[in-house]
Amino acid sequence: MAKRLAICGSFGFGAIGVGPIGVGLIGVAGFLATALNAQPPSTQPPDVMMQCLGCHSVEPGRHSVGPSLAGTYGKDAASQDGYEYSYALMDAQLVWDEATLDSYLANPARFVPDGAMNSRVPDASERAAIIAYLKSL
Ligand code: HEC
Repeated sequence: MAKRLAICGSFGFGAIGVGPIGVGLIGVAGFLATALNAQPPSTQPPDVMMQCLGCHSVEPGRHSVGPSLAGTYGKDAASQDGYEYSYALMDAQLVWDEATLDSYLANPARFVPDGAMNSRVPDASERAAIIAYLKSL
């Protein structure tokens, strides 16, 4: 018993009474989390997407500053339910495909003047990575 307490103590769990089995489970969970992270999921956002995720969720129907980007690819612009778009984007009559997304992301203010988004991605290969990711959502 003394030895067991000593083990717990060394892990800092003595006070809350987690025994070696508990410590073992935590170890397994940690290992599993590492193993899962190591697998490259096909829908992993490219690094450049980080600048989008502050304003956009990729969960269907979950809007924040910008509309959810889930299912955007292939849809009409300004067609997500429950989000208040600018009149400019609603009137733009766009369908989001590779060409329109590429132009929009390169310079939203020029492609949709008076629209509410102005986050530019000047690098063409970064835009291509974003578009490939949007297709997967
Ligand atoms: C500062 C906030 C902000 C950032 C950062 C931002 N957006 Fe937006 N985005 C918006 C807003 C607001 C709208 C709605 C535009 C409108 O109504 O004119 C929008 C609209 C869009 C749309 C059109 C959606 C639809 O349903 O028609 C796409 C596509 C889009 N953003 C992609 C991106 C991508 C990709 C990035 C990252 C490179 C990004 N946005 C970064 C705020 C942002």
